[in-house]
Amino acid sequence: MSLVPLADLLAAARAGGYAVGYFEAWGPYSLEAVAEAAEAERAPVILGFGCAMVDRNWLDAGGIDLWAGLGRHVAERVTVPVSLLLNETHTLDQARRGIEQGFTAAMPDTGALPAARSRQLVEEFVRWAHARGAWVEAELGQLPGVEDGHIDRSHATMTDPEEAAAYVAATGVDCLAVSVGNVHLLEETEAALDLDRLAAIGQAAGVPLALHGGTSLPRHALPAAISAGVAKINVGTGLKRAFRDGAREALALDLSPHDLLGSHKPSDAGVAGKERMIAVVRDLMGVYGCAGRAD
Ligand code: 13P
Repeated sequence: MSLVPLADLLAAARAGGYAVGYFEAWGPYSLEAVAEAAEAERAPVILGFGCAMVDRNWLDAGGIDLWAGLGRHVAERVTVPVSLLLNETHTLDQARRGIEQGFTAAMPDTGALPAARSRQLVEEFVRWAHARGAWVEAELGQLPGVEDGHIDRSHATMTDPEEAAAYVAATGVDCLAVSVGNVHLLEETEAALDLDRLAAIGQAAGVPLALHGGTSLPRHALPAAISAGVAKINVGTGLKRAFRDGAREALALDLSPHDLLGSHKPSDAGVAGKERMIAVVRDLMGVYGCAGRAD
C-alpha cells in the first residue's frame, strides 16, 4: 500500500469507529519505530515529524527537506495505509516547504496570530495545498501546555462548537484539532476531557477531529471521544520518554562508541530506544482500535 490521502485515512477511521495514531518521530530510528509498529499491528498510520520543539533555523536550513526525504522513503515502503504529516510548523512557509518536498499533509500552527488573520491565512493555505493534492489540519482553540512540570492554562481556550462549524466552512480544512481539556506535553497526570463539548463539536464541524496531547489522554474516555468524532490522535512525549529510557539503559553499559552509536546492532542505543518505542506504539494502536484495520 502506498501513501493515501489523509482525508481517506480519516474517513475510513470514522466509518470503522476507530482512531488513527500520529506518532511523532524526530529522526530515522523513531520513524522506523512507528513504521515497524504499524506493520506488526497491521494498522493504518500517520507518519511524520513535528516542528514545535525543533530549532527554527535548522528547519529552514534544510531540516524540513531532510525529513521529507526520509519520510517519503519510509512511507513508500510500508505495506499499510499511510499518510505523511508535517506537524505544527512555526510558519506557513515551512508548511509549504514541507508539501513541496513530499509531505502529503501539513498542520501550520497559526495560534499566535489574531483569529481573523489566522483564519484567512489557513484558508489561503488550504486552497494552495488542495491544488497540489495535499491535505491540511488546523487547530481551533488553544491547548494548555506544561511549564516547570505544571499545567499552564494561561493561554488555553476551549474550542467552541459553533465557531468550529464556521471555521471549517470558511477555511476548508480536512481535519480540525480541538481543545476540550486535552493537554500538550503532560507526562504524569491524565487530562480530563469535556466529552459533551467534544460531541457538540463533532456534530457541528463536519470533518474528522484530532486530539493532540495523546500522552496524557485518559484511556477510559477514548471510546466516547472516537464516537464523538475523533479520528486522529497525536502522541509525542510518551514516545520520547520510552525511547530515552531504552537508550539510557544501553548507554549505561559503557560499550564502545561504535557499538553504541549508529551501528544498528542490538547494542546500539538507538535500537534499544526504538524497541521501547515500538512497544508503546503497538499498545496504543490496540487502544485506538486501528490495529488490524490495514487490510
Ligand atoms: P504529547 O506530547 O502530549 O503526547 O502531544 C503530542 C502532540 O500533540 C503533537 O502534536
